[in-house]
This record gives sequence, C-alpha cells and structure tokens, in this order.
Amino acid sequence: MDKVKCGIIGCGMISDTYFKAAKRFRNIEIIACSDIIPERSKAKEELYGVKAMTNEELLAIPELEIVINLTPPRVHSEIDMAALNAGKNVHSEKPFGVDAEDAQKVIDLAKAKGLRVGCAPDTFLGGGQQTARKLIDDGWIGKPLSGTAIVASRGPEKWGQAPFFYDYGAGPMLDLGPYYMTSLVNMLGPAKYVTAVTTKGFEYRTLGAEVSETYKDQYKPFDRYPVTVTTHLTGIIEFACGAVITVISSFDVYKQGHAPIEIYGSEGSLQVPDPNTFDGPVKLFRREWGYIYEHNPDWKEVPLVYGYTTNSRSIGASDMAMALRTGRKHRANGELANHVLEIMLAFDKSSKLGAKVELKTTCERPAPLPLGLEDGEIDE
Ligand SMILES: NC(=O)c1ccc[n+]([C@@H]2O[C@H](COP(=O)([O-])OP(=O)(O)OC[C@H]3O[C@@H](n4cnc5c(N)ncnc54)[C@H](O)[C@@H]3O)[C@@H](O)[C@H]2O)c1
Repeated sequence: MDKVKCGIIGCGMISDTYFKAAKRFRNIEIIACSDIIPERSKAKEELYGVKAMTNEELLAIPELEIVINLTPPRVHSEIDMAALNAGKNVHSEKPFGVDAEDAQKVIDLAKAKGLRVGCAPDTFLGGGQQTARKLIDDGWIGKPLSGTAIVASRGPEKWGQAPFFYDYGAGPMLDLGPYYMTSLVNMLGPAKYVTAVTTKGFEYRTLGAEVSETYKDQYKPFDRYPVTVTTHLTGIIEFACGAVITVISSFDVYKQGHAPIEIYGSEGSLQVPDPNTFDGPVKLFRREWGYIYEHNPDWKEVPLVYGYTTNSRSIGASDMAMALRTGRKHRANGELANHVLEIMLAFDKSSKLGAKVELKTTCERPAPLPLGLEDGEIDE
C-alpha cells in the first residue's frame, strides 16, 4: 500500500512526538508542516526533513490526504474546518474542541463532504488499554456495574505555560479528561447522563521560575495569575450499559492514592492503567479468589496481550489512513471524540444547573485491535 501523505499544522511541544512516532507506522508519511510562527515549522524542517510552509500552502498540496492538527485546543475546530473545506481528512489533538457547537459543526461538515475526522487520544489503542478492554469483553469481571476514574494532582502550575492550564478551554477536565473519558467509553460504550459538582479550590496560582514565550510579556517568574475555570470536578457518569462511574478530575490535590481507573463488575474488579500512557499495569481480581473480609487477597497483574506499549501517538492517524483505503470505520473517530467532549462539558453544566444532564450525543464503541499486530502495522 502507498503511504498516505500527512501534514502537521502546529509545530509546538507535542509535535516532536508525532514527527518521531509517525516514522514507525508503515502506512503514513509526514510530508509537510506549518505553524503560525514560521520559525517553529522551519525548526522542524531542519530536524526531520519535512518541508515547512504556511497553513494555506499545506492545505493546497493535492496528494496530501490527512491533516494532523496539533494546535492549541481553542484553535482545533478552526483548523479542522479549514482542513475539511480544503478537501482533507483531519486528525486533531485533544480535546475535540472547547465548545460543543463548534465541535458539532466539524462533525456536520465532515459528513457533508464525505471526509473523515478523528481526534486524540489514541492511547486507548495502546497495549494497556486494549488488554483491559479485552478482559471486560471476555467476561473476566462479569457485567460492569460501577467504578472510579480519578485524575487528581496539584496541577502544572509551576510550568512555564501554566496560565494556559487555568484558563478557558483547559482546566483538569478538558486537558486530562479526554484520556479518562475515552478509556471509559472504549471499555463501557456510550454514556447517557452526568451529575456533577464542580468547584475551584484557589482563585490564583503562582508561576515557577520559568515563563514560556507565550506569557513572557504578561508575567514574570513567581507572579500570581488568575484561575478562570473550575479546577475540581467531581461527578457520576451513567453509561448506557448500566455502569455508574464516579469521577474526580482535579488540579487541587497535593497527593492521593487511587488507581487511575477501576471497574467493578458482577464477577470481579479491574484496575486499568493510566490512560495517558500506552502501557500497563492491568490488574484483575476475581470473586473466587477470596472474600475481602477473610484474608484480603491481592490483585493479580495480567500480562499485556497487545503491542504498542510505548508512546505511539500517531496510531490514530495510521488507523485513519488504513480505514481510508479499506473503507472501514477508523477508531479514534469524531463521533467518539464529540461524545467525550459532551461528557466533559456536562460536568460544569450539571453543576451550574444543580441537575442531572442528559447527553445528546452518542457513539459506537470503537472496534478492538486484533491480537498479533507487529509494531508499525495496523489491521485492514
Ligand atoms: N505538550 C504535551 O505534552 C501534550 C501532550 C498530549 C497532547 N497535547 C495536545 O497537543 C496540542 C498542542 O499542544 P502543545 O503542547 O504542542 O502546544 P504548543 O503551544 O507547544 O504548540 C501549539 C503550536 O500551534 C501553533 N499554532 C497556534 N495557532 C495556530 C494556527 N492557527 N495555525 C498554525 N499553527 C498554530 C503555535 O504557534 C504552537 O507552535 C494541544 O491540544 C494539547 O492538548 C499536548
């Protein structure tokens, strides 16, 4: 199969991961890159031998089929729309958007144009997440009934670009939630309701010794900057399958000791690895291993049965490229990402309303990867 030609828009921090990882996949090739700050794309041209140009020039390349959108969240929908209007398929970094209406417009335009839209995270295609999903699909914990998804830390407030994380379009839910919500939907299917309370523990944060280029005209090291989003979001997601998952997504916690995700089923429990990684560990507990109040038997770690256990960001684009050739559905698709976005936005919405939010969007569970794929390979 000829390699599907891709172009990267947005040559910032995460782009190196894509430039490097994309070389692993046999069916994609990055042929062009652009950035609103031309020196950034030029630097990537020198590093990776990928031609730097403007967004407009990139979108005009006739043989280019997939745009990989690595711009900041607030720009995602705009670049997705520009790519689709130029007749290109587009795979965006997460979140799918920061506004439900704009995200829906992307879905509608892709449909109208017969083009594909996809979105990170693609970590759910990693060995850890796929193994966890297989254990659920194969009935090792019985019917999933409940669980937890907890991502709580003191936040990235000392990083040079920290003000970004406490402003509109970020916060712990839109920044890290995509990994957790996508993992849950991959394992349990679509959600139906969200009931939440969201708060803000601190009105201001303090920068560290470093201030990024973006903020250097505004702030000096150790300046205080305002928090304009909720930073502690807690709630319950009810899934269509009946499972009820308790969620905490927070930048207000110094230390906690929970597993990233746990699923409790009618026959046992599952510890799911950090969905912001491709790796394990996956841990299982089966009811016949003992009653917790007798001798408190431990979890058993399950060997990962899939590859892609190291940073494989780009696998979503490679999967889209294969799907373009074979006509199948691509896994990290727009409907999944749009549903995940609605779930995430529903936390603040529910908290403001003081009521349960019924979700309007839905999606299919993405197909699991087949066993036995070689590194760099994706199934037809
Ligand atoms: N940095 C990480 O570790 C990381 C990890 C996973 C996902 N992500 C996601 O990747 C995306 C990018 O993050 P980043 O950390 O690389 O950000 P970044 O700010 O380092 O890079 C974004 C780049 O996009 C460029 N840009 C902005 N508007 C543009 C436009 N209209 N046209 C062309 N280029 C434009 C900026 O100049 C910048 O170089 C975000 O959605 C983020 O959530 C980042």
